[in-house]
Amino acid sequence: MLNVRPLHQGFGLEILDLDLAAPHSDEVIDDMIGLLDQHSLLLVRGQRLRPERHVEISRRFGPLLTHVLKQYLTTGLPEIYVLSNVTQDGKPIGNHKEGWNWHSDLSYVAEPSMGSLLYAVEVPPVGADTLFASMHLAYDGLPPALRERIRHLRATHSYAGYYGKAFADRTPLTDEQKARTPDVVHPVVRTHPVTGRPSLYVGQDIVSRIEGLPQAEGDALLAELNAHAIDEAFVYRHVWRQGDLVLWDNRATMHCATPYDDSKYRRIMHRTTVAGSRPF
Ligand code: SIN
Repeated sequence: MLNVRPLHQGFGLEILDLDLAAPHSDEVIDDMIGLLDQHSLLLVRGQRLRPERHVEISRRFGPLLTHVLKQYLTTGLPEIYVLSNVTQDGKPIGNHKEGWNWHSDLSYVAEPSMGSLLYAVEVPPVGADTLFASMHLAYDGLPPALRERIRHLRATHSYAGYYGKAFADRTPLTDEQKARTPDVVHPVVRTHPVTGRPSLYVGQDIVSRIEGLPQAEGDALLAELNAHAIDEAFVYRHVWRQGDLVLWDNRATMHCATPYDDSKYRRIMHRTTVAGSRPF
């Protein structure tokens, strides 16, 4: 039986007294999968996870995806995507400024990730919090007329569009990376495949248009939905400590990393992403 406490009144749990490095912890992973479906976000503090164990635990949630930006898969385990401002021998060990916008991981592929497991290897003493918003709560909080308006809408998610905005100062995507990330179209309201609960499925820079609407009208609607989705009533702010493992359900949340003084502090985060299914 896991010992838990709520992180936010509507979603998210901290699991207490759990050492995921200990082999007997394998027994609770099925319980964690059930909790993730119901509560959308789990936090386990004080972990000491080697990359191999991080990957081993993550695999229990499902097959793992490898990120298209291979230059940041630097741990020797391709399942781990490194997010960092640290360089080694003149080369970045991870992607810096990744996710500094509201998104759900890998929404830009046809079968987006069901969940992510982000482990804090090294964190700054201030800044670099991650904000998580419950898209179930956001959907429930929509005015009924707006809920009705978006019920059958679909939107284009574009990795090339996101990359161009977020990393305009970097080398453009290669042809191979572009070929791996063609634009995809997903419903604006999706259904959780396990619980059946509806959620809002939007995103800031990644969603380029709403299908069937003139661009200006779609942009205005997206702006309205994105602003609603991140209302503070739906948001949990995670203040990282070294050794934190946060697991979130990409089918039910969006998240956004926040800046820090990257000239003064180092940040090294290891993320695995679990394969999911086509949103419906
Ligand atoms: C992400 O978008 O997955 C990264 C979040 C973070 O670095 O805090």
